[in-house]
Formats: sequence, C-alpha cells, structure tokens
Amino acid sequence: METFPEIGVSDDRGRLIPDEGPESRVTRCRSWCFTYRWCVGILLVLSLILLGHALAIYYLYFKCNSADCIGLKMMTLNTWGMPKSLGSQFKEERMQAIGHEIAKGERDIYLLEELWMEPDYETIRASLPAGYHMTLFRQLALSTCDGHAGPEFCSGLSVISRFPLLETEFNSYTYHGDPLKAWIDGEWLARKGVGRVRIQPLKGLSVDLFVTHTAADPDPSHGYNNSYYRVRQVQELMDNYVKKATADVVLLGGDFNAGPNKTQGEPYGIIRGYMKNSIEEFFYKLLTWLNPQYATYGNTKNTFSNTFLPIIYDYIFYHARDESAVNVWTNLYEMPFFKFFLQKDHAISFSDHEAVEATVYVQKLR
Ligand SMILES: *[C@@H]1O[C@H](CO)[C@@H](O)[C@H](O)[C@H]1NC(C)=O
Ligand SMILES: *[C@@H]1O[C@H](CO)[C@@H](O)[C@H](O)[C@H]1NC(C)=O
Repeated sequence: METFPEIGVSDDRGRLIPDEGPESRVTRCRSWCFTYRWCVGILLVLSLILLGHALAIYYLYFKCNSADCIGLKMMTLNTWGMPKSLGSQFKEERMQAIGHEIAKGERDIYLLEELWMEPDYETIRASLPAGYHMTLFRQLALSTCDGHAGPEFCSGLSVISRFPLLETEFNSYTYHGDPLKAWIDGEWLARKGVGRVRIQPLKGLSVDLFVTHTAADPDPSHGYNNSYYRVRQVQELMDNYVKKATADVVLLGGDFNAGPNKTQGEPYGIIRGYMKNSIEEFFYKLLTWLNPQYATYGNTKNTFSNTFLPIIYDYIFYHARDESAVNVWTNLYEMPFFKFFLQKDHAISFSDHEAVEATVYVQKLR
C-alpha cells in the first residue's frame, strides 16, 4: 500500500511524491501540470486578443456608427522647413515627399509646423487631395512674415483639412525669446504663435483646431535654454486661446519642444491640467508611451536626429468643452515613421521630427 505524507507537513515538495510509487505517475503528474499551465497561458493570451478585438470593434463600429459620431484622423508633423543655410538637409526633396503623402488623403486633418518658406508651402499646397482645404501662407502668421529670404516674422504653421475652414485666426506669442540671442537661436526673429481653425465635421458640432510651435532650446554648448519663454508661451496658449475657445471640442497639436513632464509649471503639465493627450489615453495605464521608441525627436529610426537624446516633443491633445454634451476619445495612436528613397538604397526620414497620428472620435450626446 502506498503512503502519502500529509500535505503541509513538510515544505519539501519532493516528499509529496510517494516514495515507492511508479516513476510514470510522477512524470504524468508533472507533464499534466506543465500542459495545464500551457493551456491556461494560451487561453489567457487568446482571450486577451479576443477582448482587444471586441473592444476595438465596439469602439469603431458600435460606439461610433451613428450620424452623431465621427472619427477624425489627424496628424502633426514638424516639417524641418528651415532654409538649407540654417542646416536643413534635402529640404526640397523632403517637402515633395511630404506632399506626396498628403496627396493620398489618408487623414482628415494635418497640422504642420516649420513650413517657414513660401516655396515649400506652395509645394505642399500643390499636392492637396481634391476637396481639401489649406490655410494661406500668411493666414497663420504675421503679415510681415518674409518666407523667402528666411523665416523672419513667420510662425511656420499651416493646417490642412478635409472639412471647410470656417474661421482662421493667428496670434503671435508675447514672449519670443531673447533679442540679444536672436542670432543664436532665431527665436526672436521668428514670430511663433497660435494658429486656430474652426471646422464643423458634424452638423451642429464645432471643432477648434489649434496648432502651435513653441520656443526651442539652442545647442547646449551655448550654455542657456529657452525654458523661461517656452513656459510663458504655453501659459498664454492655454489661458488666452485654448481655454477661451467657444467650439464644442478643442484639438491641439504641434511641436511643444518640451518632454512629457507632468510637473505643475512645466509646459506639458500646464496643458495636461486642462486637456488629454491622445497617446496617454491610447496606452491607458501602461506607461509604455514613455518608451524611447515613441520619441518624436532623436528617435533611433530617424535618419537625421538619431544622434540626439530621444524625447517626445510633438503631441495631439483634446478637450470637450461640455462633457455631458460631447464625448471625445481616442483609440488609435500611431507613429508612421515616414521615409522615402532619395536615391536607390538611400532612404531618409521626412523630417528631423517624426510625425504623430491619432484618430479622435467625437460623439454628440444631445
Ligand atoms: C534652463 O535654464 C534655467 C535658468 O534660466 C535653469 O534654472 C534650468 O535648470 C535650465 N533647464 C534645463 C533643463 O537645463
Ligand atoms: C520635471 O520638472 C521638474 C521641475 O521643473 C524637475 O524637477 C524634474 O526633474 C523633471 N522631471 C523629469 C523626468 O525630467
């Protein structure tokens, strides 16, 4: 007769196996356990995949299939449109490539920054898909914007939309960087600011699209940064424009030249105090979005800025003015990592920044 020691008597697992029992029983037991774990693991993975699909289908087809709901596929890209003399490489070729991408009309809204020069603006404007609308070169800039010799007094901002532009507005920031450093960082010479375009993607639903590009830092070798100006610009952006927007929904995109630091008083923290970030919502509580693979500048996949430290500078934020009247959410966030072949075997990125893309769903509740 076989004897089994009482479970719990000993912490030695070996003792739970009958001393004189047949080897096969041990093996069977072990392999059953092994198989069982495998089954549980596989089932768990399968059910997660199914759940993911179910959620995606729910959001895409059930949650946004009525006449009161629309998905807005949008993209923001800093086009690196500095004149070549200021360091921008392959600018004409890159602008052509950006134009070809936009010509596909795969998105509803494009927010562009650093489209400083009018000839590059014209390249992109010439590629618009039929029926699309684009702000005029000086519509989101001061009328004094040069755009031929250099970016002086320009904002570099443009908006392209599948929906008609019902209103356009530009406000230059009050703080522009240090005039004494104008010839180092160019911030004071350019006139960065806030562009706003009103669209109405659904009957009775207004959306304000804000685009901006805030002060950048010079190369660290110069021994200073523009954090002081950047913070004031973002404060002005939020207090004077975004928070005062009268549209049902506000979408804000651009190059903020600030990493995702939620601390109060940091540019990102100031915006996140009022708006949601599409990428954060997409990855929900997983903090994977802070992974360097999502860096929009200095990404290892970028052929121009890969030697710099990876950081997220470009974002798409959203806000519903009255959450009981309009529901806004995202379920697609993507970095397309655009590249094209300059020559055979020589692929380059569209810009020194990566584009970010999000689909923002907007649903009227009443
Ligand atoms: C930026 O410069 C300020 C001084 O103007 C300094 O206090 C701050 O630490 C600097 N920030 C970074 C990130 O270097
Ligand atoms: C965020 O900003 C705060 C204060 O401005 C600073 O002390 C902190 O180190 C920053 N965090 C990161 C992760 O850079």
